[in-house]
Amino acid sequence: MRTLTYFVATTLDGFIAGTDGTDPTGSIFTPTQDYLDHMIAHYPETLPVAARQALGVTAPRTRFDTILEGRRSYQLGLDAGVTNAYPHLRHLVFSRTLDQSPDPAVELVAGDPLEKVRQLKAEDGGSIWLVGGAELAGALYEEIDELILKVNPVTLGSGIPLFAGKIDSGLRRFTLIESTVLISGAAFLTYRQELPW
Ligand SMILES: NC(=O)c1ccc[n+]([C@@H]2O[C@H](COP(=O)([O-])OP(=O)(O)OC[C@H]3O[C@@H](n4cnc5c(N)ncnc54)[C@H](OP(=O)(O)O)[C@@H]3O)[C@@H](O)[C@H]2O)c1
Repeated sequence: MRTLTYFVATTLDGFIAGTDGTDPTGSIFTPTQDYLDHMIAHYPETLPVAARQALGVTAPRTRFDTILEGRRSYQLGLDAGVTNAYPHLRHLVFSRTLDQSPDPAVELVAGDPLEKVRQLKAEDGGSIWLVGGAELAGALYEEIDELILKVNPVTLGSGIPLFAGKIDSGLRRFTLIESTVLISGAAFLTYRQELPW
């Protein structure tokens, strides 16, 4: 069965972006060289195509073959003129307002995200990357099998949290299965959901 992995950059205090969705400091998640090296070595498919080209990354994917994005996260790329930052992955964008996809390779989903994810999990394929943002992660809360937190050594005080919106279930326990702490202070933490017994 394919897993749904929320692979996301977070501050130490659990924020994925500034309050208005931007980076108020311009440097919340500025990658250090060791951070970039770790991303390239372990998660090359999660780099947007422009970064892959700029960094000369040609490595094939290691785990994800599908990316799920909320419309507001996708909009950041659109505003910069990028209709598909991940052409090397199957790209689904959840939106009830966009009626036509800005890119032929980007699939719009207006229906229930939980239903769509259950359908994707039943298909063959690699892991499914939930890129965010918070509202989509909140909508998919109960279907998340794995969290990979890219913890950046900064605090923000306020901002968009890891999960937002209407969340239908409460406490879920996770087991830490992998951890890497970089010299620069960032940590990559992989947590799997504990099975319910
Ligand atoms: N740190 C990281 O790694 C990371 C990763 C991703 C994103 N982010 C940040 O997250 C921020 C955006 O997060 P966000 O929480 O504001 O928005 P979001 O989750 O990216 O997008 C929310 C939008 O997704 C659509 N959506 C949500 N639930 C839906 C449902 N049940 N059915 C259909 N469509 C649904 C709606 O689009 P419509 O309004 O079109 O209906 C909604 O407005 C950005 O600022 C970005 O920088 C950070």
